[in-house]
Amino acid sequence: MVVQYKHEPFTDFSVEGNKKAFEESLQLVESYLGQNYDLVIGGERISTEDKIVSVNPANKEEVIGTVSKANQEIAEKAMQVADSTFQTWRKSKPEMRADILFRAAAIIRRRKHEFSAILVKEAGKPWKEADADTAEAIDFLEYYGRQMLKLKDGIPVESRSMEYNRFNYIPLGVGVIISPWNFPFAIMAGMTTAAVVAGNTVLLKPASTTPVIAAKFIEVLEQAGLPAGVVNYIPGSGAEVGDYLVDHPRTRFISFTGSRDVGLRIYERASKVHPGQIWLKRVVAEMGGKDTIVVDKSADLELAAQSIVASSFGFSGQKCSACSRAVVLEDVYDQVLDRVVELTKELTVGNPNDTTHFMGPVIDQAAYDKVMSYVEIGKQEGKLVAGGEGDDSKGFFVQPTIFADVAEKARLMQEEIFGPVVAFCKAKDFDHAIEIANNTDYGLTGAVLTNDRANIEKAREDFHVGNLYFNRGCTGAIVGYQPFGGFNMSGTDSKAGGPDYLLLHLQAKTTSETL
Ligand code: NAD
Ligand code: ALA
Repeated sequence: MVVQYKHEPFTDFSVEGNKKAFEESLQLVESYLGQNYDLVIGGERISTEDKIVSVNPANKEEVIGTVSKANQEIAEKAMQVADSTFQTWRKSKPEMRADILFRAAAIIRRRKHEFSAILVKEAGKPWKEADADTAEAIDFLEYYGRQMLKLKDGIPVESRSMEYNRFNYIPLGVGVIISPWNFPFAIMAGMTTAAVVAGNTVLLKPASTTPVIAAKFIEVLEQAGLPAGVVNYIPGSGAEVGDYLVDHPRTRFISFTGSRDVGLRIYERASKVHPGQIWLKRVVAEMGGKDTIVVDKSADLELAAQSIVASSFGFSGQKCSACSRAVVLEDVYDQVLDRVVELTKELTVGNPNDTTHFMGPVIDQAAYDKVMSYVEIGKQEGKLVAGGEGDDSKGFFVQPTIFADVAEKARLMQEEIFGPVVAFCKAKDFDHAIEIANNTDYGLTGAVLTNDRANIEKAREDFHVGNLYFNRGCTGAIVGYQPFGGFNMSGTDSKAGGPDYLLLHLQAKTTSETL
């Protein structure tokens, strides 16, 4: 019997022993910084001349690792391997596939701080955020393993006398997994293992800023007994390898998490049927957000201020779920804004090697430049009341930034910045606040702080986001508890970590036997 799923607890770093263990893991990771990582295709390690160099965004001079880079020729080889491996993997027992995920989860759990320490170095995550990313990776493995066990015998359907009808799920084929850098462990591992536990084989193309954690995950899967060729590791340029594989006639499905622009490009390209292609490709695309926290006049204002700060500036605002808009009723607007500014001014920014900093860097120069350009836009569109400064001399650091009195339709209120910038907007009443909250193209997360039951029910019906939270912040969904995915231009609402997710990697087959 498999024990019931329960999410992985977070580490309490105020406990001296935990702090010490994490420091030791950072030292361990430091001892192997700069290593080379090969592509892995059909279990074979392939080294290329062309490399991706992964650097620490908090310290540009620190190389985390160099990673071989796939091109189209290599991607083609990987596709052929995944395609032929599918013929055996699709017939493997679901119980065996689930066991591999459970074993991989156990391996990660035993070396939990080491994986989190890689995330501190490669993604610039503060300890707490890195720990949550690793815990979520473990959760995905544990949860999807169990989900497959639930689905393995299909769903009962009716049979008339003298017939036996069955309704079973079978895998799709080769999937292309394209993952982002902001949850470089959890999302990458979750997307990959959902596909393989369902009986598919995959080509994994991680984000180019965080390929080392993915290489380490490949080692874990091998150690857990995953047969060669089921997951093929092919980091490379999105434009070159990504487009090639999205267009490939043997690609059966694409599982993408990343920006809206790239998601739309994939969705459009995948719809074209190429010569030799005998199916319509399935696309799972989870994209950006412009997430709002609404504060009602009846709210606990201290809780509201703390929720806005944590959701806007946790991991430097680089979560698809991050709060980038605070919509506050005019009755309490000044009070909430003042308190958020006060709390924000207490936050420290610096190299996350040191656990005392609340915020680390943003991911790279392009992100830094983009965020700073929005700070300039913000100065035109609102009143700068906190932050606004950056320093990219050593790493890519941006101060947590707040703009007040921003208009509903201003760019700051509409465009995903993906950095530590939050815009405050005043609402006349609760209806107006919900109207503002819904006025973007996106629909990923949102939160409402209120003590008014009628307003909770109103928001439940009318606030159109995939993940809506009451009386808390809008980040931090837990696998199996708060399935995650967005509406509208936030994506296909696949609900990662939810009971429907594996079905997106399966197709249903009906068999009917006359007795
Ligand atoms: P991105 O779109 O730049 O990159 C995501 C992946 O797509 C990377 O692996 C990249 O190499 C690849 N890629 C780039 N061009 C491609 C192409 N032409 N074809 C195929 N693949 C291509 O996104 P990012 O900067 O890594 O991640 C940040 C974005 O992801 C934000 O917009 C954020 O909101 C979103 N995100 C969404 C969710 C969600 O669940 N909705 C979760 C995390 C991040
Ligand atoms: N699952 C992540 C969150 O909810 C993106 O913050």
